[in-house]
Amino acid sequence: MILVTGGAGFIGSNFVLDWLDGTGEPLVNLDKLTYAGNPRTLERLAGDPRYTLVRGDIGDRTLVARLLAEHRPRAVVNFAAESHVDRSISGPDDFILTNVVGTFHLLEEVRRHHDQLAGDERDAFRFVHISTDEVYGSLGIDDPAFTERTQYAPNSPYSASKASSDHLVRAYHHTYGLPTLTSNCSNNYGPRQFPEKLVPLMIHNALAGKNLPVYGDGRNVRDWVFVGDHCDAIRAILAQGIPGETYNVGGNAERANIDVVHRICDLLAELAPGRDYRSLVTFVKDRPGHDRRYAIDGSKIAAELSWRPRESFESGLRKTVEWYLANQDWVASVTSGAYKNWISRNYSARSAA
Ligand code: NAD
Ligand code: TYD
Repeated sequence: MILVTGGAGFIGSNFVLDWLDGTGEPLVNLDKLTYAGNPRTLERLAGDPRYTLVRGDIGDRTLVARLLAEHRPRAVVNFAAESHVDRSISGPDDFILTNVVGTFHLLEEVRRHHDQLAGDERDAFRFVHISTDEVYGSLGIDDPAFTERTQYAPNSPYSASKASSDHLVRAYHHTYGLPTLTSNCSNNYGPRQFPEKLVPLMIHNALAGKNLPVYGDGRNVRDWVFVGDHCDAIRAILAQGIPGETYNVGGNAERANIDVVHRICDLLAELAPGRDYRSLVTFVKDRPGHDRRYAIDGSKIAAELSWRPRESFESGLRKTVEWYLANQDWVASVTSGAYKNWISRNYSARSAA
């Protein structure tokens, strides 16, 4: 079996569902169930004997030690993190506590566990750490894409906290021989993403007839990967990756934010007609320290693990919009009072363009 952390969040929940559908191998999900983790997302697994949800913190050493001793997982896949850049700007504390200190505590317990394994069980053990391309900092419009050798230059409290955790993971391999693997992935989109990130927020607001807040001039560029493709890459890294290595994962889909928002509007016009969605686009005050461009050179994972994204941005975005249209009850269930408070605080600060 495997132990997944943060499996009730966006990428983790897609990974858990794909894993149980595809392999059938039992899985324990350790998740703190913060605002970003919703057990409702995984309710179709209720009663499935292969699945166990444990509510808890990756920084709780006693709990992590107990889970490792009890379940003897062959791998730990670490998704647990605070993940939203805007929240890291208005309140970085939780990012340091979970992404840095939490990852440290998790690594300590996994190292202890690994130290007392022997033989095949020890050889097969893996720790997979899910990270981001944001650790590499910001590119100019003509710069070459990030490779695994690009120097780290994180610019937001979020990316700095992820960079710190990546360094700890690297050190635990180098110093203690823990068989770690790290993925540095670009922006994910797809089903079950909390509607604070660009794609689901725009769908959510558009359907409600609210403004679509585009930061700055809307020309910041991200590379977009469909979440199912990212989960597939993580499985490939777990199965065939070389311990100590890092792998960049991207979608071959660089887009300016305004183009992403316009594409969402056009898909909604087709799939949920009745409103002029593009007219809702509103340029608002820019995010402080807003990275201009991210781009992924995915040649290492393609050459070494034969992994490439299957979904184009167009096909993936269509699936995503269709999923949100068909799952409005999920959106309603995750957009609680706390969500509404965050949205009104974040966007009232940006109302001046
Ligand atoms: P998310 O915010 O949707 O989910 C995070 C999950 O972690 C939630 O279920 C939350 O309850 C849980 N969690 C938070 N703190 C915890 C703690 N201390 N202990 C246990 N669980 C805790 O995030 P996501 O978008 O699914 O991202 C997952 C991972 O992938 C993160 O590490 C993130 O940095 C990385 N990543 C995300 C993207 C993206 O575009 N979303 C891109 C590249 C990498
Ligand atoms: P986001 O989804 O927060 O991901 P990240 O900051 O990790 O890349 O934002 C994606 C891009 O969209 C980023 O350039 C900021 C921009 N953005 C907006 O223009 N408006 C919004 O309301 C949000 C949430 C993001």
